Amino acid sequence: MSAEWWREAVVYQVYVRSFADADGDGEGDLAGIRSRLPYLADLGVDALWLTPFYPSPLADGGYDVADYRDVDPRYGTLADFDELVTATHAAGLRLVVDIVPNHCSDQHPWFQAALAAGPGSAERARFVFRPGRGRGGEEPPNDWLGAFGGRAWTRVTEADGSPGEWYLHLFTPEQPDFDWSHPAVVAEFLDILRFWLDRGVDGFRIDVAHGLVKDPSLPDAAALQRFLTVDPAAPPMPMWDQDGVHEIYRGWRQVLDSYPGDRMTVGEVWLGNLHRLAMYTRPDELHQAFNFRWLFAPWTAQAVREVVDLSMREVAALGAPTTWVLSNHDVWRPVTRYADPGRPGSGLRRARASLLLMLALPGSAYLYQGEELGLPEVTDLPEEVLQDPIWERSGRTARGRDGCRVPIPWSGTAPPFGFGPPGSVPWLPQPTGWAELSVQAQAADPASTLSMVRAAVRLRRQLLGGLGEQLRWVDAGDPRLVVLARDRVDGTPALTCAVNFGSSPAALPALGDAVLSSGPVDDPRVLPPETAVWFTQPPPASRVP
Ligand code: NOJ
Repeated sequence: MSAEWWREAVVYQVYVRSFADADGDGEGDLAGIRSRLPYLADLGVDALWLTPFYPSPLADGGYDVADYRDVDPRYGTLADFDELVTATHAAGLRLVVDIVPNHCSDQHPWFQAALAAGPGSAERARFVFRPGRGRGGEEPPNDWLGAFGGRAWTRVTEADGSPGEWYLHLFTPEQPDFDWSHPAVVAEFLDILRFWLDRGVDGFRIDVAHGLVKDPSLPDAAALQRFLTVDPAAPPMPMWDQDGVHEIYRGWRQVLDSYPGDRMTVGEVWLGNLHRLAMYTRPDELHQAFNFRWLFAPWTAQAVREVVDLSMREVAALGAPTTWVLSNHDVWRPVTRYADPGRPGSGLRRARASLLLMLALPGSAYLYQGEELGLPEVTDLPEEVLQDPIWERSGRTARGRDGCRVPIPWSGTAPPFGFGPPGSVPWLPQPTGWAELSVQAQAADPASTLSMVRAAVRLRRQLLGGLGEQLRWVDAGDPRLVVLARDRVDGTPALTCAVNFGSSPAALPALGDAVLSSGPVDDPRVLPPETAVWFTQPPPASRVP
């Protein structure tokens, strides 16, 4: 595979706990992933990104890491990991792992030592411990809120039983934030990067990459605070996107660059200001940053065009390729997000059309497991199975993200649908109606979402090699249409993707050979509603005069 493979890669996100369960304990595992590598290679993706598989009490689905250099026994062993790396590479794929540097688990030995050591200790200096405000320190050091509800500070009880200092956690109380101004924290993570690079990983997805450095004065900010926002008008906040964070990634880049091969980083950076986002991908920092803007765009031609234009202008401006994300383990699945209750089937049609558009764009496309199957969000999980901390921390008012984390249906007619061995019980119940969405059912159906994604990913790989990183809009004279074209490096047209965002058919100009569509198309000059088509144009030399 070419150098800088990540520039136009299709990266498949594996939510480890829900992908494939080899040992039958109801949770996915590394051996399960290994057994499904032929499926992923056949799908044609370039790389896998694994969500955290490290030892964890799972207060936040594994984003609360108790040991950064091991595998949780529920997922396997380090030996299993090494085998997975070898098998992934043998299948022609790259392997990217998640790294969680903003916070650890409260069970991490450093935090346990900090609790035991007491105020003013060297152990506490690696986290953000502060005395409380008010009489007797009863009030938290500032008014910051936690991302999942409640405040961002928890008070500890000191060894003598007295109420003590408070520690900062931007997420749950079980996820204490590190103090990145401490050199030991910096050194520890450089070492953790080396640990996994030595084991052969091709890159890292960096959790909460914009959160590591806080304004040292820790000013009140609750009135400003917004989470998971891409609103360009969101004000600067003292816990996100502080200038000092860039220095950390310059250090990380040096480590990555010191390894052979073509290792990469992609930062999870929730920022509305795409210019600030692009700064994370300056040549001596990260290779990529997630661009989440599309996740919030409504289903209109204008909104999607704006997302693409802005992303190309701001994110790609510094020479890094932009990234595209329609789905991940933190948001509602697109099939449900896009559904118009007045138009049956619209969610799936729109999700499929969006996928074809995404896969036609320059840059990297991140696919979330199950997106290629058109899985919907599971909105009716019984309350007693909900595990996302959002459920409890919202006072049971927000159900959280479990609905997009339901285990994958692979085969068969009843749960566990091949996710685990017969008789095993998946950690989240699968809807009984998922038989028709299984990999087995869809692989046999040329009109399925799986068949469409597979064809698109493969065609993309064939075509993109020879294309520039630019796109061109084609004015088709109808505001409901988005028509984008990709040209070869010599300037001749190669691929055109047309999407009809309207609710009735739209006339198209002649655009080339219709090679792939997201739904039934009888006449390539008439694009049905909520449908995308790819057209190719052969190179001039091969055209018949
Ligand atoms: C972002 C992860 O994607 C999400 O799942 C997690 O809850 C937070 N970061 C905190 O680590």
